[in-house]
Amino acid sequence: MNELERVIEDIEGIDAPERVVVLTGAGVSAESGVPTFRGAGGLWKDFRPEELATPEAFARDPLLVWQWYEWRRDLIRAAQPNDAHAALAWFEREVEGACGYSLVTQNVDGLHRRAGSRRLLEIHGNMFRARCIREGTRREFPDSPAELPPRCTCGSLLRPDVVWFGEPIDLIADAMSEASAADVMLVIGTSGTVYPAAGLVSLVRGGMTIEINPDETPLSGAFSSSIRSSATAATRAVLEALARRLASCR
Ligand code: APR
Repeated sequence: MNELERVIEDIEGIDAPERVVVLTGAGVSAESGVPTFRGAGGLWKDFRPEELATPEAFARDPLLVWQWYEWRRDLIRAAQPNDAHAALAWFEREVEGACGYSLVTQNVDGLHRRAGSRRLLEIHGNMFRARCIREGTRREFPDSPAELPPRCTCGSLLRPDVVWFGEPIDLIADAMSEASAADVMLVIGTSGTVYPAAGLVSLVRGGMTIEINPDETPLSGAFSSSIRSSATAATRAVLEALARRLASCR
């Protein structure tokens, strides 16, 4: 029996979950062709975070930061959500009314939203939204702007509506509250190296925690089960097992 089969068997034996929380990282979008940050081919191999993903970098060179984000936005405009994104959107609809559910993502690529997820906490923001640096007003910002760096109608610079290193995460309290209330937490495709997101799994009190990642991470030892697999090879099967468990208790 492999880890996935073992997790599915374990799910058949648990009490019906009252709240399922999922945490995703860049790995859930890897099979959509979106580069991760760390590991082979990761963005931080070619770019230095402090030069592109900090408020200081933006103040120093807003054009360079926007050129980098436009390069990433172009990549993602051409990408499609994969079956892990689709399975999560399906699960949200399937368990509506049967148990609490939320999807906490560190990703700013918007692919969960494009796949149909709505009970979504984008704790690091979304790079298809922009924010005026003076007024703080947010707007959807899906298309390539006519000029870089783009400006608000007030004349001030717009910035990507994402959380940069060193900035506060407005949604982290909500994410921590979700994790603390979870009796099942599924963590897909994160290296577990960036806090506070990496600390969420430690808030689960006595519930089942499952990691889906082809590689071991610093958090792997904290999970009740680790499935050494890609997101698309395991996510749907785990979610279907949870849905069956919930249906058998109705
Ligand atoms: N399926 C599942 N996991 C995968 C896949 C895949 N197909 N391919 C790679 N992974 C795993 C890698 O093994 C790695 O553990 O996804 C993880 C990606 O880790 P990171 O690149 O560090 O991404 P993430 O954990 O989301 O980074 C957290 O760091 O740079 C900041 O703000 C950025 O949100 C990001 C945060």
